[in-house]
Amino acid sequence: MSQSFEGKVVWITGAARGIGRVIAEAFARGGASLALTDVLTDDLKVTADDLSSQFGVRVIHENLDVTDASGAAAFAKRCQSELGGLTILINNAGVTRDGLLMRMSDEDWERVISVNLKGTFVCTQAASRPMMKARYGKIVNIASVVGVMGNAGQANYAASKAGIIGFTKSVAKELASRGIRANAVAPGYIQTEMTGELPEDVKQAYLAAIPLRELGTPQAVADACLFLASPTSDYVTGQVLVVDGGMHT
Ligand code: NAI
Repeated sequence: MSQSFEGKVVWITGAARGIGRVIAEAFARGGASLALTDVLTDDLKVTADDLSSQFGVRVIHENLDVTDASGAAAFAKRCQSELGGLTILINNAGVTRDGLLMRMSDEDWERVISVNLKGTFVCTQAASRPMMKARYGKIVNIASVVGVMGNAGQANYAASKAGIIGFTKSVAKELASRGIRANAVAPGYIQTEMTGELPEDVKQAYLAAIPLRELGTPQAVADACLFLASPTSDYVTGQVLVVDGGMHT
């Protein structure tokens, strides 16, 4: 998909690698200025340097944990002072700590809820301030089809992603009067470092459950983000766009 995002500033969390990096590249191709955050300092710098030299766009980057509220607020201000505003937020940072319910530790529960759900809240709150002032903004939260369907061994992750969906719908209603749209993308099985760690039999079971019989690509998720971040979707808010090859219908 080729769309112009010139003059737009997009903040992408978890942008150092995986889906986040591909989303950043898609916006860079469209000419957007990039504000990239992650906790993987070295990978983030490589991504930022690659994209600014490859696409000639302005890029700022910062080591920021998505659960750090004061850091997120300061970064939103940095977007305004260094890039001239903040139009789009992609809440992409996420983690898994899989395990069966009876063996799941408090720590694994709390870590996943904290990064995935609280992190989405923290960055949304920070980005909403400049968006409210501009009376326009686009928030895209990366959920998961697991948040819609549930998944054995992922109670913490599914709860965090289902939480993101409820959060997205609430934010959409609350901020609509300020011109801010909030939607979620719910990817199915996408090939990345995160899913690369899954055992082979689990991967095969996923494939058998996908009507299109192929795994998703990070680009397919990026394309959904481009749509929900562009003016083309300005009458769409509070929705969940499932990108899963038909797994959940
Ligand atoms: P990944 O592990 O390759 O990338 C996640 C990024 O988030 C990493 O760069 C990581 O350093 C960053 N991150 C982790 N904790 C952070 C924190 N506290 N603060 C800031 N950044 C942090 O994973 P992947 O696959 O690229 O996932 C991206 C998003 O897509 C996640 O939200 C994930 O839940 C979601 N997703 C992925 C699917 C898949 O099949 N790979 C399927 C459905 C959703």
